[in-house]
Amino acid sequence: MSTENKKKNAQGFETTGHSWDGIEEWNNPLPRWWVWVFYATIVWGIGYTIAYPAWPGIKGATAGMLGFSTRGEVAAEIDRFAVANAPNNAKLEATDLAGIKADAELSGYATSAGAAVFKTWCAQCHGSGAAGAVGYPNLLDNDWLWGGDIESIHATVSVGIRQQADADGDYLRQSEMTAFGEMLEAEEVDAVVNYVMSLSGDAQDASKVAAGAAVFEENCTSCHGEDGSGDRSQGAPNLTDAIWLYGGDYATVSETVNNGRKGAMPAWQDRLSEAQIRAVSVYVHQLGGGE
Ligand code: HEC
Ligand code: HEC
Repeated sequence: MSTENKKKNAQGFETTGHSWDGIEEWNNPLPRWWVWVFYATIVWGIGYTIAYPAWPGIKGATAGMLGFSTRGEVAAEIDRFAVANAPNNAKLEATDLAGIKADAELSGYATSAGAAVFKTWCAQCHGSGAAGAVGYPNLLDNDWLWGGDIESIHATVSVGIRQQADADGDYLRQSEMTAFGEMLEAEEVDAVVNYVMSLSGDAQDASKVAAGAAVFEENCTSCHGEDGSGDRSQGAPNLTDAIWLYGGDYATVSETVNNGRKGAMPAWQDRLSEAQIRAVSVYVHQLGGGE
């Protein structure tokens, strides 16, 4: 340090000796501790970039000597849960479907695991609260196309609806609402639409209901039943309960009868584990409409 640096100004402060138009540069060095902490952060920073993934390259970042990755951390976390849940899942798969409910602990586990499955795989179509939408059934009510007991729900979720057949012959969900537009006269369609609406107490033109009943008798009862209350073995909905999958106004019922319907639901047996399917079936079953 030159003597110049030790100069003190009129107030007694040390200055660097630099002065511009009378404005002096004071000599106030950073505190020692601050400087050392600063050096330490540099050393720590270098160490960090060696130990952890850090420097970006063209095809990815340097891996770091510790081999750490956030992706690996998530995988480890998932494995940890899989191991922790394994006994529950094994029990879920081993227990008779109808017996799950009797085991409070197991059904509690299934319900919460099922809720997570539902949010991930089912909510897009059935809604996060399972209340459905046009064409996507409400799973909260006790109006079921294919059956609302736990076995039926489990079967529906496993094989899906109107999906390619497979070995599980008994439970395939196949059938469709025939397109009658080309088979019936326009007046017959008009009449049967009025009849169907009348079953829920809402005919558009009451004078056509009697004629519509005759058309229904001839064309519709094989699937929807003599009284229109539906047939679960064919996924044919109850037409008498004022609950509509597609809609109960004249235009929509007319569209259904003319063009047919075949709502499709994916099969989950190849995508989810048996334990997940059982869990989500228990979850859906306890939502309120379960039988
Ligand atoms: C791509 C849309 C879609 C997804 C995803 C989906 N569903 Fe469905 N689901 C449907 C449709 C559409 C129907 C009605 C099919 C019909 O018209 O017969 C249906 C029907 C059902 C039924 C039968 C209801 C009844 O009244 O019998 C159940 C139970 C069901 N879904 C549960 C689930 C569960 C559980 C999941 C998640 C694992 C799921 N769905 C995912 C579209 C979907
Ligand atoms: C071959 C069996 C079959 C026949 C015959 C049939 N239906 Fe259907 N119908 C179905 C099925 C299955 C569905 C459900 C389709 C779906 O879920 O996508 C359905 C759905 C409907 C719906 C929609 C209900 C809703 O909730 O939105 C109406 C309305 C209907 N049918 C009326 C009729 C009328 C009227 C006739 C006679 C002219 C008839 N169906 C004949 C099988 C049939």
